[in-house]
Amino acid sequence: MFVSPLLAIGLAPLLASAAPSWSVGPTTDYATKAGNKICNVLNYDGVADNSTDIGPAISSAWDDCKSDGVVYIPSGDYALESWVTLSGGKSTAIRMDGTIYRTGSDGGNMIFIEHTSDFELFSSNSEGAVQGFGYEFHKDGSLSGPRILRLYEVTDFSVHDLILVDAPAFHFSLDTCSNGEVYNMAIRGGDSGGLDGIDVWSDEMWIHDVEVTNKDECVTVKSPSKSILVENIYCNWSGGCAMGSLSTDVDISDITYRNIYTWSSNQMYMIKSNGGSGTVSGLVLENFIGYGNAYSLDIDQAWSSMSMTDGDGVQLENITISNWKGTEADGAQRGPIKVNCASGAPCKDITIKDFEMWTEEGDYQTYICNSAYGSGACLQDGDDYTEYSTTVTVTSVPTGYSAATMAGDLSTAFGTDSVIPIPTIPTSFYPGATPYSVLAVQASSSA
Ligand SMILES: *[C@@H]1O[C@H](CO)[C@@H](O)[C@H](O)[C@H]1NC(C)=O
Ligand SMILES: *[C@@H]1O[C@H](CO)[C@@H](O)[C@H](O)[C@H]1NC(C)=O
Ligand SMILES: *[C@@H]1O[C@H](CO)[C@@H](O)[C@H](O)[C@H]1NC(C)=O
Repeated sequence: MFVSPLLAIGLAPLLASAAPSWSVGPTTDYATKAGNKICNVLNYDGVADNSTDIGPAISSAWDDCKSDGVVYIPSGDYALESWVTLSGGKSTAIRMDGTIYRTGSDGGNMIFIEHTSDFELFSSNSEGAVQGFGYEFHKDGSLSGPRILRLYEVTDFSVHDLILVDAPAFHFSLDTCSNGEVYNMAIRGGDSGGLDGIDVWSDEMWIHDVEVTNKDECVTVKSPSKSILVENIYCNWSGGCAMGSLSTDVDISDITYRNIYTWSSNQMYMIKSNGGSGTVSGLVLENFIGYGNAYSLDIDQAWSSMSMTDGDGVQLENITISNWKGTEADGAQRGPIKVNCASGAPCKDITIKDFEMWTEEGDYQTYICNSAYGSGACLQDGDDYTEYSTTVTVTSVPTGYSAATMAGDLSTAFGTDSVIPIPTIPTSFYPGATPYSVLAVQASSSA
């Protein structure tokens, strides 16, 4: 039923890609855990009547099955009125085949999992969903409701085949975790800032085959983080993927984003800071396709939406941007390359290559480089690392800019004042790339 990453490589022959070099996922398989013990929430006073609070039943089932067992939430409709904090699991899984509807209104996290190892959270029917009904907050202009899902200090784990809809605040955050795999997920939120898709600050992670619709972070890395591979991501009307906001003592290294499709978003990739200190090194941004985005490559170390933090600037170094295609919304207004580095900490060793994007409006576009050193586009070579500022106007159309689109690009956003429907999980997240693992529902039907 579970395809190992090594086996799955063979399923993605069209684009160069590879699983990470570090280990991810639970160390004990689901069948072994299920063979030990299954705690079905229906046996803990849970009722799939879409009105009884399922929170206490999930907590009781967790208490009994958090070591060497499985918490099972069968298909059906459940109401979640009181949030759950699930702590101290070891060799455990939560199989969530039902749909959970938020009915409570506290802040915090609807589902919070912490201090847990060898863990899997998934649905076997690829239909497990949480409906956050965030619009009930957003229609009054409030973003103060709960997040849907947070993992903290969780190691050797996977989260997959889940659908998270309309979070009152963020959809999914993973912090201080390690050796985790997140895949085959659909996240769909309101068309507003503050409704982040996936935020991660962790080590040795693999996040792949995920679709995000919202108007803020698609899949975003924060500090501190080390060794994260983000692959096959469909930002299907979003804010776009990013790094940050970065402030003081930033410590981020060895991060790769590959096969990122961005449609009608704020940006294809942004690094955002204003002042600050510390380092980002070893960042690879390869195989990006974008259409209709305001910004494309947007490194902004004087980001005006963030208040200035202490320090001369975060040092950005060893960053490779390659194979970007598509079109930006208006290249005269916001060109596809903006590398605005901190004058107090000029960027070093940046490479921009095979970058072929063109504008949807007008007949020219700009590249902006400020205090950025390396090769390609408007970057300055050499190593005197002094402050400079340059804008290049590009009038010739790059020959190879056109690229495939996704069939299901969203044509108008979901609003923030009415119910957002629960989607199904797509089976394609980047043109020409086959997901690493088939959906759990397909794996179990063919097993
Ligand atoms: C479950 O209840 C919510 C309201 O909390 C409602 O919007 C939803 O349609 C119900 N689900 C079903 C399947 O009836
Ligand atoms: C630059 O970053 C890449 C990707 O993380 C890494 O493989 C490489 O070793 C780094 N190079 C240097 C000189 O640190
Ligand atoms: C993109 O989002 C829209 C709206 O949610 C949806 O109709 C479409 O199917 C999505 N595309 C894919 C490939 O899932």
